[in-house]
Amino acid sequence: MKRIGSETLVIATHNAGKLKEISALLAPHGVQCISAGSLGLPEPAETGETFVANALIKAHAAAQASGLPALADDSGLCVAALGGRPGVYTADWAERQRFEGPPGRDWYLAMGKVEGLLAEQGVDARRDCWFACVLAVAWPDGEHAVYEGRADGTLTWPPRGTLGFGYDPVFVPAGRSATFAELDPAEKHAISHRADAFAKLVAAQFT
Ligand code: IMP
Repeated sequence: MKRIGSETLVIATHNAGKLKEISALLAPHGVQCISAGSLGLPEPAETGETFVANALIKAHAAAQASGLPALADDSGLCVAALGGRPGVYTADWAERQRFEGPPGRDWYLAMGKVEGLLAEQGVDARRDCWFACVLAVAWPDGEHAVYEGRADGTLTWPPRGTLGFGYDPVFVPAGRSATFAELDPAEKHAISHRADAFAKLVAAQFT
């Protein structure tokens, strides 16, 4: 299998926070990271129906456009009782509809949609869920490697905690009583779906 080595790696994101987090994780392995945004690369449409498909779309687009190896991630929340939804549509569920206020994302609204659908299933609805994170590395010659991470947990209501982002306030990781939004960020990062995927990438690419 191809390895990233010490080449410059394009991080297929236009999100400065993600670039910072990923650069810090890869710095100990001698990898220089540069974002697709800073190279002026276009953001491809995420038309896949799975996390793997979307991560591959983003990684291949950045590798082709830059001529460098590229890393992309795709993540989201999957709820067992909802057949794995919102899944790849996790961020979309936070988009306000016209009658819900000004355009933009509202995570309280998104968490409320999940809770509302569970409520329709009655008090006995299964509340188990998982966060998924897929990392895809693609090379300009078309080769790729995929690493999948997962964090299992249960949904709580009402939301609790002010740390983290997205659906963190309703996600209680397995074996804990605090939500991701109540945990110290370092504690969350040690057990998160992203940490799981990165551990797999590092084991395959740098050991
Ligand atoms: P994307 O991978 O940037 O497309 O993110 C998908 C969405 O999944 C994000 O906008 C978040 O709402 C959600 N998500 C992914 N990881 C986490 C997490 O660690 N905590 C809370 N929400 C998350």
